[in-house]
Amino acid sequence: MEKVLVLDFGGQYDQLIARRVRELGVYAEIIAYNRITPQEIASAGYAGVILTGGPNSVYDPTSPHFDPTLLTLGIPVLGICYGCQLLAWMAGGTVQSAGAVSEYGKVTFTAGKSAIFGGIPKQSVCWMSHTDYISTPPQSFSVVAVTENCPCAAIADEQRKLYGVQFHPEVTHTAYGKQILHNFIFSVCGCAGTWTAERFTASAIERYKRELAGKNVLCALSGGVDSSVAAVLLHRAVGDRLTCVFVDHGFLRKDEGDLVEKMFRERFQIPIRRVNAKQRFLTALRGVTEPEQKRKIIGREFIRVFEEEAAKIGHVHVLVQGTIYPDVVESGKGDAATIKSHHNVGGLPDVIRFDEIAEPLRDLFKDEVRAVGLELGIPSDMVWRQPFPGPGLAIRMIGEITEEKLSILQEADAIFRDEIVAAGLEKEANQYFAVLTNTKTVGVMGDARTYGYTVALRAVSTDDFMTADWSRLPYDVLAKASGRITAEVQGVSRVVYDITSKPPATVEWE
Ligand code: XMP
Repeated sequence: MEKVLVLDFGGQYDQLIARRVRELGVYAEIIAYNRITPQEIASAGYAGVILTGGPNSVYDPTSPHFDPTLLTLGIPVLGICYGCQLLAWMAGGTVQSAGAVSEYGKVTFTAGKSAIFGGIPKQSVCWMSHTDYISTPPQSFSVVAVTENCPCAAIADEQRKLYGVQFHPEVTHTAYGKQILHNFIFSVCGCAGTWTAERFTASAIERYKRELAGKNVLCALSGGVDSSVAAVLLHRAVGDRLTCVFVDHGFLRKDEGDLVEKMFRERFQIPIRRVNAKQRFLTALRGVTEPEQKRKIIGREFIRVFEEEAAKIGHVHVLVQGTIYPDVVESGKGDAATIKSHHNVGGLPDVIRFDEIAEPLRDLFKDEVRAVGLELGIPSDMVWRQPFPGPGLAIRMIGEITEEKLSILQEADAIFRDEIVAAGLEKEANQYFAVLTNTKTVGVMGDARTYGYTVALRAVSTDDFMTADWSRLPYDVLAKASGRITAEVQGVSRVVYDITSKPPATVEWE
């Protein structure tokens, strides 16, 4: 299969670069610079290599470097930001601090003639973020773009198909960034663009038909998009040898558990074993208020319920996991601090006896998982559901979890989501939900005093959920949601809107 390597030097845009390449129809994979050698790159058959940005200075001997043999393999290379400086450094150019003329944000650049600049105007806007720059390009290279303060905004050795851009073509602020990546992928690397959800789906089904012939397969459904897509895909391959266990902890959004069950049973005729374990979870969480405690108890209880159910099934050959590509990339880095212990079905392999794991989505980004879901016939409103944390509403309810608070939160959340959809804003905010604070305040309704909960509304826009900005929702949408929540949900006397970005806050409140 045609593929491009994104060689990661610690930049924050590695996943974005890979996604942009995949949007062009070419499979891209991310590998850290110290986990692959030029020989391995050569034998893996990559059509091209993209060197990512990174926070270091190439002239610092402790910064990440790469064996210059890479430049002799005959494989096209595109260096971005730090990757551009590294390319110059490897080929014998000089890089130095840009000092007072460091560039941040939108900058106009003037492009010369180069294969990577085909079809773009002579002058356009790019996104810069650098404190070093190339002061002398390597001998065989020519300068193919400049900005007012950057003498080598892009360099090229057209003969050897080696290119570097100081700016970031992967971010949308670079006006012709997509065209530049397109030029590199198609004109320079000669890719054909064969990576589509349709082909991926067909070949995954064929592969699992072969590999899982005669085997019993078990899938833990969480109710979310990833595990649903993984289950439907596997069902196409193994039919009724697939058993789906849906542990409903009771903290799903209003009606969500029923919708998931209905979709599996009626639309796909996939029998699922739904375990309604709400009371069990409520009991286990009684009196617990500390967020990490809540997460741990839910994770533990989820596994216990699943384990008990799996014991009734008999021998399982294969356990399906809904791992997706960002999980794979993140766990490969291994240096992130634990801010929250994310609960998915990741703990299952330790407790279920099985022979192998199938991870049908491990090569896919979230938007690709959605595309595969649509390809499999999952309705678009199910596929386009926003991300939802494993512990569900339990971590959107501050303080102790009670049945009364759960039902208030489910109703308030459903109204807010309704209003966002009614206003056509569901793709504008990437995640939006209600939180039930533990604060009661005084209100007045009719002529009577009320004393009810404060509901907080949260909506964020983000590319990757690592950072997020609060959404500037129109006041009238907020007003409508607030009016409906206080009028329709008993026990709520006040509604507030969360205007904190991540960082310093996180998306979820707990
Ligand atoms: P935070 O709150 O960490 O959330 O800024 C970032 C994204 O992760 C989701 N999230 C979770 N997803 N299991 C999940 O699968 C979890 O335990 C979990 N906690 C947070 C959150 O909804 C947001 O999209």
